[in-house]
Amino acid sequence: MKVDVLLGLQWGDEGKGKVVDVLTPNYDVVARFQGGPNAGHTLEFEGQKYVLRSIPSGIFQGDKVNIIGNGVVLDPSLFKAEAEALEMSGHPLKERLHISKKAHLILPTHRILDAAYEAAKGKSKVGTTGKGIGPTYTDKVSRNGLRVGDILHNFEEKYAAAKARHEDILKSMNYEYDITELEKQWLEAIEYLKEFHLVDSEHEINNLLKEGKTVLCEGAQGTMLDVDFGSYPFVTSSNTICAGACTGLGIGPNKIGEVYGIMKAYCTRVGAGPFPTELFDETGKKIRDLGHEYGAVTGRERRCGWIDLVALKYAIMVNGVTKLIMMKSDVLDDFETIKACVGYKIGGQEIDYFPFDIKEDDIEPVYVEMPGWKTDMTKFTSENEFPEEFNAYIDFLETQLETPIKIISIGPDRDQTIVRYTE
Ligand code: GDP
Ligand code: IMO
Ligand code: MG
Repeated sequence: MKVDVLLGLQWGDEGKGKVVDVLTPNYDVVARFQGGPNAGHTLEFEGQKYVLRSIPSGIFQGDKVNIIGNGVVLDPSLFKAEAEALEMSGHPLKERLHISKKAHLILPTHRILDAAYEAAKGKSKVGTTGKGIGPTYTDKVSRNGLRVGDILHNFEEKYAAAKARHEDILKSMNYEYDITELEKQWLEAIEYLKEFHLVDSEHEINNLLKEGKTVLCEGAQGTMLDVDFGSYPFVTSSNTICAGACTGLGIGPNKIGEVYGIMKAYCTRVGAGPFPTELFDETGKKIRDLGHEYGAVTGRERRCGWIDLVALKYAIMVNGVTKLIMMKSDVLDDFETIKACVGYKIGGQEIDYFPFDIKEDDIEPVYVEMPGWKTDMTKFTSENEFPEEFNAYIDFLETQLETPIKIISIGPDRDQTIVRYTE
């Protein structure tokens, strides 16, 4: 009986997809527990690149069961496009992918509402991915949502009622839109969805655990985008933290084993909101170029900066992280010096915690600067090859974060992954 959780500790895009794929051979089941197609999880192996949005990243490794849990919000159209593309590329998934009947459906009008709310916010907009995430979770919590299981009985009626409610809101906002094409595709995709195993995934997972099977829960987004603990209101609309795996899959907290927290060797953010270590200079541009920091879902430029240990300590605390995984170390291969933020200065006063009302303008990061390693690490196969300066960087991070770094990623490919054995 064992459930491990793997989740992002920053503002998303830490490299969760790659690592879930690497770890999948150690598990029987891989399950997504929250978020929806706002996620873009990239995997690379055998010269191919795949971007997954709603389908768990365990789908490529043998005959594992992959589950889309109740905590996820699912857009049938985007799901159909994603699933068909995978099937076309020789990865059949109808037998292996199980979808919770309790997962909520993203309706075409949810996407329109997402755009309308963003437009209404004007300058203070969140910069959402535009996938209807916020409005769908809003309907879930206000007890107005439609769930995957609803497509099996009297669906037309339920859909018409939900759509009419949304149309009233959009009318009251004077928001112009046309959903004809979007809706046509969406209704076709509802039929496609029926071809999958629609299950009570909480029973399935708990029964598998009873049989001694192991589960890896795959987080989406990151802790600083968590609706409770992130940089609110510039967050997503779900609990991205470890507790989300319990509510998003129906797993008791006593079943959770390892909590893997993923971070980049630096930090990025897409969309609006505070980002204390953001770099607006040539260094930030260099990180963006070397790290190919452009969104997997929207293609937007990712904002880049140095690693933020204040935010990371907070993320480790609220998740109960037991092991760290550091991604994209190779992106810093060619820097004279590397910086790590160890505190914030606000109004001349230094603090070492993430403040309630964080304002970008009056926050100044306090940095420790270390020598860079100036070595191409992308072809390394063991930690024994790590340069001295890189070892000093990871030692420093482990000491500051009081958590061991167990996996180091040195490139996007499945093979560019180094497991550390030293304590
Ligand atoms: P996720 O949303 O957390 O799964 O991360 P994304 O897929 O959105 O973004 C991570 C990006 O970094 C993808 O393009 C990956 O292919 C790439 N990537 C992952 N690990 C590494 C690494 O160690 N080095 C480099 N250079 N790229 C990586
Ligand atoms: P993965 O799983 C990075 C950000 C958006 C926006 C905010 C709210 O690939 O790491 P939403 O559409 O969720 O209402 O947008 O959250 N965001 C992400 N940023 N990676 C993601 O997912 C994200 N999912 C949402 O940019 O700032
Ligand atoms: Mg991503």
